[in-house]
Amino acid sequence: MVKKKACVFISGAGTNLKAIINSSRSYNFPINVSLVISNNKNAKGLILAKKFAIPFKVFNSKEYFFEKKILKEIKDKKISLICLAGYMKILSKNFIKNFKGKIVNIHPSLLPKYKGIDTFKRMLKNKEINAGSTVHYVNEKLDSGKVILKKSISIEKTDNEITLKKKVQSIEYLIFSEAIRKIYLKN
Ligand code: GRF
Repeated sequence: MVKKKACVFISGAGTNLKAIINSSRSYNFPINVSLVISNNKNAKGLILAKKFAIPFKVFNSKEYFFEKKILKEIKDKKISLICLAGYMKILSKNFIKNFKGKIVNIHPSLLPKYKGIDTFKRMLKNKEINAGSTVHYVNEKLDSGKVILKKSISIEKTDNEITLKKKVQSIEYLIFSEAIRKIYLKN
């Protein structure tokens, strides 16, 4: 199979990046991670990119033209899917328009509930009984694009932010790859 080229955007640990890289090593996974982009030069995920010899670039999001530079890089490399995996910067409407329908994000809640940050803290405060994660297309509104896949887990009385994050992330490592498969099954 001819694999499509994907770019993963990160800002931090990159554990979701790792899960996608692992999946992509299988011959029938639809994409290869051909580029990693970070807005944080200290993101741990960059160590992974180095380890797997994946080209990576760091763009300073405080620079005025940084998105323009990213777009150029992505177009030059013929990237056909952007996976936002813990990228802590909101993309501009213009950027999204340029790559419409080809940007996906993973969010640590059962969307449309708990858009935005501090999801675990808010869920625990509201005494929710279920948590989860959602992979969705990115549109101009924060955490609001069409859902590709979501999966829930139950919140136990003993859970705190740390244990909940751990549980949610363990399902993220499965659903991000499953969602990528689903995208290409349709095409
Ligand atoms: C994930 O939990 C994801 O849901 C959120 O940011 C986190 C990134 O973690 N958007 P990592 O960098 O993949 O470890």
